[in-house]
Amino acid sequence: MSAPSSAIQSTLVENRVFEPSDATVKAARISGMDAYNALCAEAEQDFEGFWGKRAREVLTWHKPFTKVLDESNKPFYKWFEDGELNASFNCLDRHMGTPVENKTAIIFEADDGAVTKVTYKELLAKVSQFANALKARGVKKGDRVVIYMPMTIEGVVAMQACARIGATHSVVFGGFSAKALQERIQDAGAVAVITANYQMRGGKELPLKAIVDEGIAMGGCESIKTVIVFQRTQTAVNMVAGRDITMADAMAGQSTDCPAEMVGAEHPLFVLYTSGSTGKPKGVQHSTGGYLLWANLTMNWTFDLKDSDVFWCTADIGWITGHSYVAYGPLAAGATQIVFEGVPTYPNAGRFWQMIEKHKCTIFYTAPTAIRSLIKAADTDEKVHPKNWDLSSLRILGSVGEPINPEAWMWYYKHVGGERCPIVDTFWQTETGGHMITPLPGATPLVPGSCTLPLPGIMTAIVDETGNDVANGAGGILVVKKPWPSMIRTIWGDPERFKKSYFPEELKGYYLAGDGAVRSADRGYFRITGRIDDVLNVSGHRMGTMEIESALVAKSDLVAEAAVVGRPDDLTGEAIVAFVVLKRPLPTGDEAKAIANELRNWVGKEIGPIAKPKDIRFGENLPKTRSGKIMRRLLRSIAKGETITQDTSTLENPAILDQLAKTN
Ligand code: WTA
Repeated sequence: MSAPSSAIQSTLVENRVFEPSDATVKAARISGMDAYNALCAEAEQDFEGFWGKRAREVLTWHKPFTKVLDESNKPFYKWFEDGELNASFNCLDRHMGTPVENKTAIIFEADDGAVTKVTYKELLAKVSQFANALKARGVKKGDRVVIYMPMTIEGVVAMQACARIGATHSVVFGGFSAKALQERIQDAGAVAVITANYQMRGGKELPLKAIVDEGIAMGGCESIKTVIVFQRTQTAVNMVAGRDITMADAMAGQSTDCPAEMVGAEHPLFVLYTSGSTGKPKGVQHSTGGYLLWANLTMNWTFDLKDSDVFWCTADIGWITGHSYVAYGPLAAGATQIVFEGVPTYPNAGRFWQMIEKHKCTIFYTAPTAIRSLIKAADTDEKVHPKNWDLSSLRILGSVGEPINPEAWMWYYKHVGGERCPIVDTFWQTETGGHMITPLPGATPLVPGSCTLPLPGIMTAIVDETGNDVANGAGGILVVKKPWPSMIRTIWGDPERFKKSYFPEELKGYYLAGDGAVRSADRGYFRITGRIDDVLNVSGHRMGTMEIESALVAKSDLVAEAAVVGRPDDLTGEAIVAFVVLKRPLPTGDEAKAIANELRNWVGKEIGPIAKPKDIRFGENLPKTRSGKIMRRLLRSIAKGETITQDTSTLENPAILDQLAKTN
């Protein structure tokens, strides 16, 4: 933690309150605040009974569990441990013979607008056939499979097929570089990669298979025995004989029947890498039973899902949101969902609104960054303003990934939701598996910019550095006091890091989220004030400052030292600013620009384009204390363009501040 809780202050006062309409309350699953409070009280009174009841109601168990929670080896909590089930069975097979069987599971809209639909029955056949193909390629229960695919039906099929045979998938976002992919393959010890030849985004054909080849060629990926390639486009790619096969060839002749492999509730369903406060990404390991329970239950609670809903979560399957609210939650809940391949600005910035109208979307879930960029687009071009489309099908809006500023909230509420749709501002993390703090559409009065209250059974609180509760109105550290079913189980291959990162001793064994927060004095509503560790949130994507620093210093012919901080940005929430000391004299003018560009591209290659610093500043040194510690708070001030008013008397080299303040 770099900032003490006393430094986390609340400056924003928001007085607007939006009550849910009577009709919404009446029709809702959790109807009104009394119903919400009753659920919270139930969880308080009988914590294990509360979760056990939900797990029995929401999931189909092959073998029922006899114990809800095992706390004997904290913080390695186990949920429903002796129970057995299969996640894919719970998303697909379970609906057979019910009205969901012939319901549309996925409405897929490709980048170019072409639409493909699959029913639950068809999806089950596809998943089973691909699961058989995986088995035929030697993939088995307990193996890890890396998935590097675009947003497609096949991407979901790949994830579900792994789950079906008990293989643990690790999806790597298609925007990550060969190097990042190689590191993840190696860390997970994956036996197979499922990829596509290309992906289509914004009218462009972007390579995926070539990046897989490049990553594997970097070495250390000897565990990979097979690479399965979905042919998204007609363009041919290099295929390595004996290792690579197309998805179509792998599936040819395979049966569309593949009984689901039952696994223990704690069996790792997936590992998803995310940024932490060191250079190395963390493989967040999730369970099968607890994770799926929460993915399904939150579909019903947070989105108040009805049979007739058309649900659309715009997140990529490469992120946790695309796991819980594309690949698993909607299917487990039997929903019809939209899966979109492209980008919100192609062919123009009206694409989202056009798609909502076309598919009669009822629940729309996206990120504040997307909303802010579409506001900007609508402000400059009337033709892409949402008013040009009929959005009357919408009934609930959602926001995820970063704090939503009240201005963006109000625009979303007014121009997209027609002042009719509640906005669920859902706070959660890769580690939490599903929603933690969020309004309920038919209960919670909304306050713009606040994620309001924790879901029933989720014991969030705000504490100081010693784990003591702080008063409402005072800022502090966000923690969760009790375990919950969909929580991270460990960091893949690094249980010590898991313990240290999330359950520091001084916090009384509470789960440390890594965010600062404040509760409002009047309602006790939570507002997230941002990360308190060295993690940035750029366009809703988590980036570790250390990760970017490591990438920069890896350019060892050029870079001696680097420090990376965040700076507030109107569009992307935060922007990456890098301070770099070169192994050559301080560059100026065009030379500085050229080197900055070279470094930006380098970081793009090391991690991925999302990690490229927006601003790179050069100095002969970095501001350090006499003991050699980089004073990041000073760098943060410089990055924001503030004059330094803080005490700099402990600095070894105060003159360096002026140098760094000058942009190149
Ligand atoms: C931030 C994304 C404010 C927060 C699901 C968290 C939010 C990090 C919100 C997790 C929200 C997510 N309001 N901040 N509604 N949702 N965050 O792991 O800083 O990609 O710790 O999971 O995003 O990002 P992650």
